[in-house]
Amino acid sequence: MNGCFKIPAYPQAMESWWWQRSLNNWPEVSELRIMNHIRDEIVVQSDRFNKDRIFSPQSYSSRTLSILAYGNFFFPRTWLQNTLVLAEAIDLRGWEAPKKGSIRVLDLGAGSGPAGLAALRLLRERGIANRIELRAIDYSSKSLDQLKSIHAENGNLWPNTSLKTERFDLRKARPNTSSNSYDLVLMSSSLNEIAEGKDSRQMATSLAWISEGLKPGGFLIIVEPALKQACDRLHEASLGLGKASLHLHGPYFNGAPCPFVLSGAQYHSHEVRRRKPPAIVQRLNQPLGLSINDNKFGFILLSRKKPISFDQDPSVLRLVSPVIKKKGVYAFVGIGGDAKERNYEIQNRDLSAPEHRELIKALERGDVLRLGSWETYEEGRRVRIPHASAIEILWKPK
Ligand SMILES: C[S@@+](CC[C@H](N)C(=O)[O-])C[C@H]1O[C@@H](n2cnc3c(N)ncnc32)[C@H](O)[C@@H]1O
Repeated sequence: MNGCFKIPAYPQAMESWWWQRSLNNWPEVSELRIMNHIRDEIVVQSDRFNKDRIFSPQSYSSRTLSILAYGNFFFPRTWLQNTLVLAEAIDLRGWEAPKKGSIRVLDLGAGSGPAGLAALRLLRERGIANRIELRAIDYSSKSLDQLKSIHAENGNLWPNTSLKTERFDLRKARPNTSSNSYDLVLMSSSLNEIAEGKDSRQMATSLAWISEGLKPGGFLIIVEPALKQACDRLHEASLGLGKASLHLHGPYFNGAPCPFVLSGAQYHSHEVRRRKPPAIVQRLNQPLGLSINDNKFGFILLSRKKPISFDQDPSVLRLVSPVIKKKGVYAFVGIGGDAKERNYEIQNRDLSAPEHRELIKALERGDVLRLGSWETYEEGRRVRIPHASAIEILWKPK
């Protein structure tokens, strides 16, 4: 399939590192008891993210147990999310490494570092050879200590990179960032905590000053949990960024904001990527039964440079629903190059070859397509795709 981009798997070395760290922490305790201990903490953290939503510097790091539970269970998930969004920035949205000199990456609310480290790994996997300087900021010094250890002990995953960590409370003040410094600024599942209790206008103000640190071609990548409130607030904040000369590059097209937020729809913008989690996550989850196969998250991509131009019509689209088969038709919802939501469908009988059916079944929420031909119905709300060969995949991770 054209437009399918290889996404590197979560490194086995990372999985082993976190588990070995856990075994080393309780050398006298059986593996089964360590598993159960960590499982109890996973439930606490999962409730904190999804229900209680009370955060403090102690939430992650007062106990080594919290860090190990996060590292074994949640770290691979945010690693994948950040890999996917950075890959989209590179493959589809026009982020480029500087022609010469170091790539500078700032990770805000870095924790033990999955976003920044995933970025180092992906840049190397994409064959980008510049030296990379990663600066990671968090108010949890224990998390940052883990990040330092991971970075130092797995140097073969990210050759020719350096790491600087800083303990800093991002709610209380701005960190010292000179303007035009960063190629990438990352905020992974941290904005909703740092901006807890703030409205989207206040959040927009924060994003405007964060973006001052970006080089003109740099990207601010914000990944958030797929909670409706978090995603809606993020997209609402993005509405007010024009004044700050910030352009929205994704998830949609031509700088257009999320139509769900504008219309007050019951849906919210988020990705769902079905990926088999690492073996340790599966083992830990066995008695817990948490949803681990669907990796769900929201994101926006911002830059001071103008977004790539796409046709402003139904022909370019991002899938915002799963593909459903009903009554001889494969159907899904897409947001078009003109930021309009439409129902797209292709008849089963038009999928003559097995590879065409495979193509449709492999589509996931978040994939970006271009249609060579299409017909609209119902005042443009429904789009019929005449044949699978009309579908060009612009961006799809594999
Ligand atoms: C859900 S964790 C995400 C960690 C990491 N970025 C990831 O993707 O897994 C949120 C992080 O934000 C940090 N954080 C929350 N509020 C903060 C603040 N006011 N200042 C600095 N860091 C903060 C927490 O310490 C924690 O490491």
